[in-house]
Amino acid sequence: MDGRTLLAYISAGGATERYAHIVADTLRSRGHAVDVIDLKRDKIPDLSSYGSVVVGTGVRIGMVYRKGKQFLRRKDLEGKRLAIFLSSGIAVVSAEKSKTKFLEPLVEKYGLDPVMCDAFPGKMPGSGGKFKDRTDPAIAKLWAEELAAKLSEPA
Ligand SMILES: Cc1cc2nc3c(=O)[nH]c(=O)nc-3n(C[C@H](O)[C@H](O)[C@H](O)COP(=O)(O)O)c2cc1C
Repeated sequence: MDGRTLLAYISAGGATERYAHIVADTLRSRGHAVDVIDLKRDKIPDLSSYGSVVVGTGVRIGMVYRKGKQFLRRKDLEGKRLAIFLSSGIAVVSAEKSKTKFLEPLVEKYGLDPVMCDAFPGKMPGSGGKFKDRTDPAIAKLWAEELAAKLSEPA
């Protein structure tokens, strides 16, 4: 294992936040030391002590959250093992489509090389400002188990 893991997330409706804690707990259960920060309110720590970084963000009106994109653009992510997850409405129907539409263009634009990069189902806006919660903890747990194994491999 190569240093600690930082999990940085940004969530408006709570889905990404929920996934962030599931991913962090799963990585910890596999022996990884994980620090979690909320990009809305927490100070970003010095990344030099982190070998791996996980970034979680949501999307609204076709736009991945700005603070998620800003974080992914950071120069000091270079050389880190990076994993990205997205919570989205489209992913309720097709995770692949959501990944292609929202994540792949960012990976390309910022020249990233993530070890894992996937979309998870989020909360669907319904009538009267209510949400249908389509988050699926099992998906995030499985994803994090696969990630834990990848992060344990020698660099
Ligand atoms: C106003 C609004 C606009 C949305 N637009 C999109 C969209 O363009 N594409 C999409 O896949 N999901 C869309 N969604 C669903 C969100 O991605 C979903 O609620 C997800 O859970 C957001 O992550 P968060 O809960 O961590 O904020 C939208 C949701 C809201 C409330």
